[in-house]
Amino acid sequence: MELFDTRLNDDDHPMPREELVEAVRTADILVPTLTDRIDKGILAQAGDSLRLIANFGTGVDHIDLAAARERGITVTNTPGVLTEDTADMTLALILDVIRRVSQGERLIRNGMWSGWSPTHMLGHRLWGKRLGIVGMGRIGSAVARRARGFGLSIHYHNRRRLPDYAEQELEATWWESLDQMLARMDIVSVNCPHTPATFHLLSARRLKLLKPTSVIVNTSRGEVIDEQAMIRMLKANQIAGAGLDVFEHEPAVSPMLVALENVVLLPHMGSATIEGRIDMGEKVLINIKTFADGHKPPDRVIDTLL
Ligand code: DGY
Repeated sequence: MELFDTRLNDDDHPMPREELVEAVRTADILVPTLTDRIDKGILAQAGDSLRLIANFGTGVDHIDLAAARERGITVTNTPGVLTEDTADMTLALILDVIRRVSQGERLIRNGMWSGWSPTHMLGHRLWGKRLGIVGMGRIGSAVARRARGFGLSIHYHNRRRLPDYAEQELEATWWESLDQMLARMDIVSVNCPHTPATFHLLSARRLKLLKPTSVIVNTSRGEVIDEQAMIRMLKANQIAGAGLDVFEHEPAVSPMLVALENVVLLPHMGSATIEGRIDMGEKVLINIKTFADGHKPPDRVIDTLL
């Protein structure tokens, strides 16, 4: 507010269409976040002065990048500053599902615990299991580093194989075929962005390749998994469990998921730390200031994701 003539969304409400249209008509720079859908129709109504969309967040699947490019609008995001927090939450979900942490907590709160017994609340040992990471970018690599400390063997599928030194550091095995990797993993972690190419990457067909004992964790975007197919398989015990921080139709969460005991559900809070939010804000400011000063902002996404 010190630097620019600023209008704020004071209560952080997801902006409805008419508010977004008003914003793109009048602003030079828009700072949306993932709940603000900036589609082709909205951008078609943008004023000529709109030159920068400085997204508050890393994922940009709520912005029509092609439409922005056509109109010569630069789009930036906030990569890197959410990596460690999101990786922490991925491990929290893995531990929770495998060791039934939330189930145990619910039991006590519901007054259902009658004492220790040898076969009560048995989960599985994490040590020695195989973790398959789908998308070995910054967050996937940070998950791998943590997972090694828990004794998991690291496998990954990524469009591009990591350089030798990175594979050695992470002791990670690359699978060119996602199908082949899925069939052999105990835990699958989704860490790739949602783009047109990754929509339903874990399709009904691919989910069927998983072992019935396997567990899926998603801290990326719900759209990467065919949620209905996953729910059917969880219900039929064809997958052992899931830890989900993201959903296909947020903020709606399927009642069928809520009814399942073998899933842990979180309200998209993977990056929700005070430190992370401050860093995101700083990144947005750096992008805006650099742009306003006539330079290329550091976190341009438009060319990398199209
Ligand atoms: C992002 O920045 O895309 C995250 O999903 C926010 O948590």
